[in-house]
Amino acid sequence: MPEVDIKEVVRERYAGIARNVQTLGSPCCYDGEEGSCGISANLYAGDETGSVPEEAVLASLGCGNPTALADLKEGETVLDLGSGGGIDVLLSARRVGPSGKAYGLDMTDEMLALARENRRKAGIENVEFLKGEIENIPLPDNSVDVIISNCVINLSGDKDRVLREAFRVLKPGGRFAVSDVVTRGEVPADVRQNMLLWVGCIAGALEDHDYVTKLAKAGFDAIDIEPTRVYNIEDARAFLSGQGVDVDAIASQVEGKFMSAFIRATKPAGCCGPNCCA
Ligand SMILES: C[S@@+](CC[C@H](N)C(=O)[O-])C[C@H]1O[C@@H](n2cnc3c(N)ncnc32)[C@H](O)[C@@H]1O
Repeated sequence: MPEVDIKEVVRERYAGIARNVQTLGSPCCYDGEEGSCGISANLYAGDETGSVPEEAVLASLGCGNPTALADLKEGETVLDLGSGGGIDVLLSARRVGPSGKAYGLDMTDEMLALARENRRKAGIENVEFLKGEIENIPLPDNSVDVIISNCVINLSGDKDRVLREAFRVLKPGGRFAVSDVVTRGEVPADVRQNMLLWVGCIAGALEDHDYVTKLAKAGFDAIDIEPTRVYNIEDARAFLSGQGVDVDAIASQVEGKFMSAFIRATKPAGCCGPNCCA
């Protein structure tokens, strides 16, 4: 699918989910789809969900908890790529405190409206939600300490560009600390397609070693991919059966191959661009 079409499909899907949260009090399920609701349950601790508005929790569509793993420090500037209803931005803002700042970036007006309303309800000042695309981040070079993201980069049709942009806006020494769905090893195309429909990743997840290669090409070092949850066929059985898939026949091709992971990388200190690191 061309990149522009992918974006439109993604935008429409998340606009619908944002509307559902506001009108029905639930993201599940836009037009009867299971979406990413299945993998978004129970990602946050009680004290985290208790510290943000209920609508931010209801609109949580991630596949991990990047703020818990990113080791955010007082005074840092954080950027969340594809911030949705804003849960990770609000949690980050609390961690970096009033001397820090948390930006959320999203392309979908309905999600931005929901996130801004959640910010208002939370009464948190050091937060700004920006409209824009993760392939073209509307922030200056070398301006961000930490980039987080939660199950969004897998939706982009141009992941190289997203990673180049992430590298550009990070300060030298800045951290990339992202939750995403990745695959591991050979998976037949039809099995891959069905599983990714289940996790809700329209444009497709990267294989773990492709992710490492792309991060290195963008200029990052200290790259690490840590699985946080490996999905098995039982996780997806109800959804796949509903799609007419013979679940038992593909079980061996799924086991251990689809996972949520925490992806870490660093922009080298003293680094001004992918080709001019000190
Ligand atoms: C799976 S949801 C995740 C939302 C949020 N990170 C969370 O954990 O709840 C994906 C979000 O990313 C946004 N998004 C997807 N592709 C994008 C792109 N290329 N540029 C900006 N935002 C994008 C969607 O509008 C949606 O709000």
